[in-house]
Amino acid sequence: MATTLLCARSSSLLVCNSSVSLRSFAPSLSFPSPHLHNQPHYCHFLSSFAFSGALGVRRFCPPSRSVSSWWCRADPSTTAGVVEAEGVLVEEKKEDDEENDDDDDDDDSFRGSVPAFQKRLRIADIKGGPQGGLERVGEYMLVRGWVRTCRSQKTFAFIEVNDGSAVSNLQAVVNTNVEGYNEVEAGRVTTGASVSIEGVLVESQGSKQKVELQASKLLLIGGSDAATFPVQKKRLSREYLRSIAHLRPRTNTFGAVARVRNALAFATHQFFKEKGFVWVASPIITASDCEGAGEQFCVTTLIPNSHEDPSTPLSKIPSTKDGLLDWSQDFFGRPAFLTVSGQLNAEIYATALCDVYTFGPTFRAENSNTSRHLAEFWMIEPELAFADLRDDMACATAYLQYVIKYILENCKEDMEFFDQWIEKGIITRLTNVVEKEFMHITYTSAVALLQKAKKTFEFPVEWGCDLQSEHERYLTEEAFSGNPVIVTDYPKEIKAFYMRENADGKTVAAMDLLVPRVGELIGGSQREERLDVLERRIEELGLNKESYWWYLDLRRYGSVPHAGFGLGFERLVQFATGIENIRDVIPFPRTPGSADF
Ligand code: 4AD
Ligand code: MG
Repeated sequence: MATTLLCARSSSLLVCNSSVSLRSFAPSLSFPSPHLHNQPHYCHFLSSFAFSGALGVRRFCPPSRSVSSWWCRADPSTTAGVVEAEGVLVEEKKEDDEENDDDDDDDDSFRGSVPAFQKRLRIADIKGGPQGGLERVGEYMLVRGWVRTCRSQKTFAFIEVNDGSAVSNLQAVVNTNVEGYNEVEAGRVTTGASVSIEGVLVESQGSKQKVELQASKLLLIGGSDAATFPVQKKRLSREYLRSIAHLRPRTNTFGAVARVRNALAFATHQFFKEKGFVWVASPIITASDCEGAGEQFCVTTLIPNSHEDPSTPLSKIPSTKDGLLDWSQDFFGRPAFLTVSGQLNAEIYATALCDVYTFGPTFRAENSNTSRHLAEFWMIEPELAFADLRDDMACATAYLQYVIKYILENCKEDMEFFDQWIEKGIITRLTNVVEKEFMHITYTSAVALLQKAKKTFEFPVEWGCDLQSEHERYLTEEAFSGNPVIVTDYPKEIKAFYMRENADGKTVAAMDLLVPRVGELIGGSQREERLDVLERRIEELGLNKESYWWYLDLRRYGSVPHAGFGLGFERLVQFATGIENIRDVIPFPRTPGSADF
């Protein structure tokens, strides 16, 4: 196989068109320019070395004043013997060698030992350029992934490979004379099998794709029994795919959902970082019930764990003389639970660091078998000090518009996929969310609007009732024509103890943000910062005041108006992808009666 090693000394390129012994270049290979480390050329250069397999580029050092080039060192563990090094021609970037570089180390001081870890090129990086990959035509590359289809012709085979980096597959054309073609002949390159393919990217003859890989080497990594592999090309129902959650990420839909979910999480951190918020880790195990709804999972070691005999009699569970559970013998010496919300802990940090947020898993033992409820879900909870309900609503709006804009700009292929296959028009719907103002309405006006609606609801509406999903969806989908709506000032009886009481004595400074298809996406409020009012509210609700001593302390020492909200991350993913059921937007859903995988 013809290989090319590209090497540069003092900004001049040296190209070898044959297999070379690394030792003949060792211990150092220089790079075209000292500034290429920030350039795509440089990365490209590195990766092309990396995929040579044996030649792991391991260390490199900054340029010295006397040597106007970068030095790289190969991994000593891989330099023994003769190795083949492969590279591709890269454009040389002309820049001043040293003037702009403030790093003054000499050749022998290395910046760290970083072995190359991605030997393959991602399909998204191959095909994701503005010309759909045409700009990379002529490059020699290595691709790894799973076979979607393999079609054999007389003198060659088409193998469609997907590596999970994009919806698109990369088509490899494998001629009969290519090393590894015998795997195709033997029928082992089947749907689901994992492969490694090397070759040159060429312009495709076919109309379905712009580029394809003209293979020069095919390696079957892991076979897949075509007769039993459950993810065949035909469309499979999402219910069925839930039963094979270990293989469903290999489908287009679940791959796209995973990538968009990831992008939303990244955009979340980016938004809050830009606004100066500090990410706080709220505890997963807690002794308090933030929402006061009694929907918590207990965390205990009183009950024998799974390693013990599951038939342990009840008498083995410690109890008091009165026949009650003896919590004093439990791990924490008291009842403890999985958290339903990180809010109370976020308030602690907000009243010290001003603006903070939590982003972590939360748990609710509510027996709701709906398309919007999970027993384990992720929540994003910002908490803002020196802020009121208006600030809270503005923050929620800015956040939602930011993350939606982010995926529209950065997940184009996935969003087009959702638009075509999951929800027609989703891109327009989300673009409107980014561009239009959100509607605001008080709970009292919303109730009046629902009562006037020419629609029969399953649950009748009257002032004081909790709004049901059907009411929320009517407001956002019909009354406000698909715009997000923020409903404020709910009756205090249906909201949690910590919400700030309004002057009317009947309502609290609460807000719920409702969006089409999902209903309630965000629930938030201004918090009660007045010690006497909060104490009264805790007493009215019959809560144990002693256990809130630390929460009340925040009102005793330098209390400030503050506000925050909680956004159910899976509901956001539903909203952003058009996926109907919340169980399909989290990798491993936990719902009543189901905790598989
Ligand atoms: O409205 P909730 O209960 O509010 C709180 O927990 C507050 N402590 C938040 C805060 O102010 N920091 O829940 C917030 C959001 C809901 O709007 C909903 O999106 C989501 O969490 N959520 C659920 N998502 C999936 N499954 C469930 N069972 C959910 N329960 C709530
Ligand atoms: Mg709520």
